[in-house]
Amino acid sequence: MRRLIYAANWKMHHGPVAARAFVERFNSVVQPADGRDLWFFPPAVSLAATAEAFGARPDVRVGAQNVYWAAKGAFTGECSVALAAEAGARGALVGHSERRHVFGETDAETALKVAALLEGGLTPMLCVGEQLSEREAGHTEAAVRRQLRAALAERTPEQLARLMVAYEPVWAIGTGRNATPADAAAVHRVIRHELAALHAPGDVPVLYGGSVNAGNVLALLAEPELDGVLVGGASLDPDGWAELVGLGG
Ligand code: PGA
Repeated sequence: MRRLIYAANWKMHHGPVAARAFVERFNSVVQPADGRDLWFFPPAVSLAATAEAFGARPDVRVGAQNVYWAAKGAFTGECSVALAAEAGARGALVGHSERRHVFGETDAETALKVAALLEGGLTPMLCVGEQLSEREAGHTEAAVRRQLRAALAERTPEQLARLMVAYEPVWAIGTGRNATPADAAAVHRVIRHELAALHAPGDVPVLYGGSVNAGNVLALLAEPELDGVLVGGASLDPDGWAELVGLGG
């Protein structure tokens, strides 16, 4: 049976107090279930509080939303892989569309972050996705392949065995407009194909993200190409998130 991954990207929400309250409520309504893994990506200041509040819960992993690739030094405002790990992170988002398009992160920087995470023993969740103009010009496939190659070409198959990928069309994030399940599945097949060309194992999880909610998650997960979902807005409320992760069984 496919192992489903439900990943919550809290973006710039939930400080340590709100994060602890979220976990307390969530833990009281959701028990670990077979075949389901949960990832939470809180803001950096809430990493430790979130990880500590979940404790040793076996189905939960906590990750950073961003890391810097250097090990240490004069990089004011940045968080290294080792610092994130010490705060409880087991992985990190890399190349999220807001990093790429709001903060101008390049493909080359994304590649450095993926490398630093893998070398530091953390799991990267590499986010890729086309912009609306790329989709309308018929360049979706090329955009996604380019982002994957740029981030992963230098990595070994052993390293790629620890990777997760999230397909997040930029036009679908936070807009209420999600890709149809069939469109998402088609791009997931492209991603799988490119991952194989990069010598990644066939079981690298590929998640879908972009305006996923309790009303559309079942139709999306009905596509066998989707190994889970990466969710922003609909992951912020513990009861709403509990409902969403419960729907897929
Ligand atoms: P959204 O965000 O679910 O609010 O569209 C998804 C994401 O940015 O990961």
